Amino acid sequence: MSQPSVLIAGAGPAGLILGISLLKNGVAVRLIDRESKHRVGSRGAGIQPRTLESYDILGVLPEILKRADPELCRRRMYELPGGTKVIKELPVVEYVEPTPGMPHTNPVTLGQDLHEEILHGYLVELGGTVEFDTVLGSFDQLPDHVVAQLVKTRPDGTEATESAKFDWLVGADGVHSVVRKQLGLSFVGETKEEDYVLVGDIDVVNESLDRKFWHYWIPPSQMLILRPGAGTSWRMAFTGAPEHWKKTLPTRDEFVEKFYAVTGRRDIKFGAATWLSSFRPSMRMVDKFGVGRVFVVGDAAHCHSPTGGQGLNSSVQDSINLGWKLALVATGRAPATLLDSYSTERLPIIAEMLKLTTSLYEQTAATAGTGDVGGWTTAFKRGGALGMLGVNTRGSTIVLVDDEHAAAEGGAYAAAAPGRVQAGYRAPDAPGLVGEDETTARLFDVFGPAEHTVLVFGGDALAHGAVKHALACWPQGTEHTMLISRAGEKGESTVLREVLEDREGHAYAGYASDMTEGGMTIVIVRPDGVVGAVVSQAEGIERYGKLIFG
Ligand SMILES: Cc1cc2nc3c(=O)[nH]c(=O)nc-3n(C[C@H](O)[C@H](O)[C@H](O)COP(=O)(O)OP(=O)(O)OC[C@H]3O[C@@H](n4cnc5c(N)ncnc54)[C@H](O)[C@@H]3O)c2cc1C
Ligand SMILES: *[C@@H]1O[C@H](CO)[C@@H](O)[C@H](O)[C@H]1NC(C)=O
Ligand SMILES: *[C@@H]1O[C@H](CO)[C@@H](O)[C@H](O)[C@H]1NC(C)=O
Repeated sequence: MSQPSVLIAGAGPAGLILGISLLKNGVAVRLIDRESKHRVGSRGAGIQPRTLESYDILGVLPEILKRADPELCRRRMYELPGGTKVIKELPVVEYVEPTPGMPHTNPVTLGQDLHEEILHGYLVELGGTVEFDTVLGSFDQLPDHVVAQLVKTRPDGTEATESAKFDWLVGADGVHSVVRKQLGLSFVGETKEEDYVLVGDIDVVNESLDRKFWHYWIPPSQMLILRPGAGTSWRMAFTGAPEHWKKTLPTRDEFVEKFYAVTGRRDIKFGAATWLSSFRPSMRMVDKFGVGRVFVVGDAAHCHSPTGGQGLNSSVQDSINLGWKLALVATGRAPATLLDSYSTERLPIIAEMLKLTTSLYEQTAATAGTGDVGGWTTAFKRGGALGMLGVNTRGSTIVLVDDEHAAAEGGAYAAAAPGRVQAGYRAPDAPGLVGEDETTARLFDVFGPAEHTVLVFGGDALAHGAVKHALACWPQGTEHTMLISRAGEKGESTVLREVLEDREGHAYAGYASDMTEGGMTIVIVRPDGVVGAVVSQAEGIERYGKLIFG
């Protein structure tokens, strides 16, 4: 691969995913991190359905599912004092039955440390590396490149400074982002100074806690939670923890004593605390996601209350959105203005996410410690929109909203009307497709992170010829086109080489249910799994192409 043209500062989930996405697109990257290894601690420990879909398209899903647990636990709240009698039991999330179009409807749990390890392994498989002990100090932005000042700590502790030139710089450098600060982006919002949360991972070394449950003790204005982690480890969160711990984190023993005092339970035998940390819930976001050749993704661009679990999940989605666009621009196949859409597409989504998580946070905080056991049912209700499957970019200037049905209601988190694909929304899956050699496939196998997928439903040889002609206006290697034929029809198309037969009918049901007899529906799916256009004539392909490739 050529000289890296993109520098990614920060190898947390956002940086790793961006690295993977660029490598899959054949763009060389240099990925650095100030730490000497991935950080310990389960931190953001869940993966939302929308993220699972993105991982499916990226190719990293099998490894993730092998190591993750389904998040089908229930919450148990205990009576106080005493701390052993269950007074309320609630599901963590309402189970949602998968459908052919939506195979991943339920979140899974995976500690962030393990999660990063898996992503790192995948990056390495693709030929990438993470350069640890390397800090981005500052950068200079020039019209046609960026110069980054890097400081590398050698194994003997001495430092080497380097001034390196890149075409693009992306700050995936977390909430204290140097990149964001140097770009001068605003980071508006609030920090709940008074609300202090102690978090950590601690072992429970006897069988005193059932691992099928998340356990809650909720005295007035406090809340102690233990959730099962990997092995004998439990993930702890403690809101309303003692004031003096704000200055100095407690030791493992101090925490355990406090735990016993607050819950009244002494039957839980704790082992080592492998990780203790704290934070104040903070809800902030940038006013734009980049300037010129420099961008921010993930926590560098937004932070929020962990309630509802959107942190890591939103960070990953930033990178999924930016990755393919940056790849097209970096390889000279699209104009730099395409990158403006990264900011304009993500801003409304993140703004809505902040509203959602803030109101969840306030609702939970207001109800949790009041002893209003009845109110807990609503206060702890999760799922639905938080799965992010409805998250859309339908107002975007680079999606082609061409049909008369486009007047959908609702905001950036609202799903499309069922049974209809719409530009700006997630492209549904469809299993049961059969190729000419009788191999089976589903659409999520067909979608790829590096090319647009053009799905053609119906149409005759003449119409297909026009499709092929229109696609010739797109740059080389930017699309993968296939004809989806109806069940039982061979769909021999002389011009569209690839044909998949929709043997179970899911593709037609999900994509072309309202197509008129003898008509044609063309659905263009972006490399991030978002529908870019739904058109009925080949000419729409050219118009969409202009939006992306100029
Ligand atoms: C202590 C802590 C506890 C958390 N707890 C929870 C929780 O309980 N629940 C929840 O949902 N979410 C939690 N989160 C949030 C979740 O971890 C983040 O949303 C997620 O990690 C965001 O990913 P990211 O890649 O954007 O940033 P990060 O994971 O923060 O990654 C940023 C990376 O950039 C590196 N870096 C920083 N500056 C530089 C530089 N100048 N040069 C080079 N590298 C640099 C850092 O070392 C780091 O590896 C927690 C976060 C932290 C820090
Ligand atoms: C991602 O979503 C899951 C599932 O809801 C949640 O449990 C988890 O905490 C989220 N992760 C982060 C870091 O927000
Ligand atoms: C766990 O250990 C504690 C403290 O040693 C003890 O009181 C309790 O009975 C044990 N519980 C089980 C289930 O072994």
